[in-house]
Amino acid sequence: MHLLSIETTCDETAAAVITRQRTVLSSVVASQEKLHERFAGVVPEIAARAHLERIIPVIDETLKRAGIEGPDLRAIAVATEPGLPGSLLVGLSVAKALAWSWGVPLVTTHHVHAHIYACQLNSEKPIFPSVGFVVSGGHTNLYRCHSSSQWDYLGGTIDDAAGEAFDKVAVMLGFAYPGGPEISQAAMRGNPQAIPLPRPMVDDPSTLNMSFSGLKTAVRYKLVGNGKQDFSQLQLEPTFVADMAASFEMAVVDCLVAKAELALKRTGLKILCVGGGVAANRKLRERLAQMCSKRKVELHIAPPSLCTDNAVMGAIAWEKIDRGEFANLDADVRPGLLRS
Ligand code: KG4
Ligand code: ZN
Repeated sequence: MHLLSIETTCDETAAAVITRQRTVLSSVVASQEKLHERFAGVVPEIAARAHLERIIPVIDETLKRAGIEGPDLRAIAVATEPGLPGSLLVGLSVAKALAWSWGVPLVTTHHVHAHIYACQLNSEKPIFPSVGFVVSGGHTNLYRCHSSSQWDYLGGTIDDAAGEAFDKVAVMLGFAYPGGPEISQAAMRGNPQAIPLPRPMVDDPSTLNMSFSGLKTAVRYKLVGNGKQDFSQLQLEPTFVADMAASFEMAVVDCLVAKAELALKRTGLKILCVGGGVAANRKLRERLAQMCSKRKVELHIAPPSLCTDNAVMGAIAWEKIDRGEFANLDADVRPGLLRS
């Protein structure tokens, strides 16, 4: 029994074939990073057009590598929420067309939930019930996950997502988009105590909400004061860049770890599952491991290859298939439900 999973929520065109036993037979990710680099962020219209060009070749290659014919699939899963409307529509339209023409059932998935489900693919034991923490370019959300289908939103960023802050600070420091991995690299050569930066909301135990926009602005002030200077004109010393990268990374990690710990305290849950692009960050992984070991909490972090957007995590669709939750051909996208 094979599932074809399709992912086009943002700027990665991805497909994967996964068996019922959760074995990955093939996974293809066509990244659009180069197309968006000069804008230092994802341009929705460019993303949608690029998905349109790539989706069929990506699916074709994925099925070929798995040695599977379309009509033999058990189902086609597609992420329909949340994400960029145009990008989501490309994935859903192709999924519907293939499901109809091959006579295969359609299943819709929630991209943010799928990020957490990536942890299940790396674990023999069930990961639910647990605290789920999605830390990506679009989301920084904490959930109480009762099961693969029952999620309560506990809190999250009230402005920028953690990955978004990484990407924006990276631009200020002269790194290419997406800047998270580059900041993390530079941080290895820097001193995290060198530049004092704020940790917004970190000391407020009354909320599981977070904020990264002020931290990003604090970096800006350290670089150009109140001026309107173009960052590309700045002549920054490599040591300063490394120290800023390390100090910024530490500030973000402090905020994320503190709120994850608060969510564990509040819920009393003994499992923490972490996914999303920023979960690939080495420092964050280390610090979460320390905190969980101190609290005797079982930690699941998605393997780095499944942290950034991919279609393998769409294996969460198997849980829906088991519950008989199939979608009709009039299914629609739900772009904006960031906190569901
Ligand atoms: O999950 P993802 O691929 O897309 C969304 O669903 O948003 O996450 C992409 C984000 C980008 O902001 C990228 O800079 C960040 O994840 N990222 C990292 C690292 N690797 C990717 N941030 C910090 N450290 C990393 N190693
Ligand atoms: Zn994502």
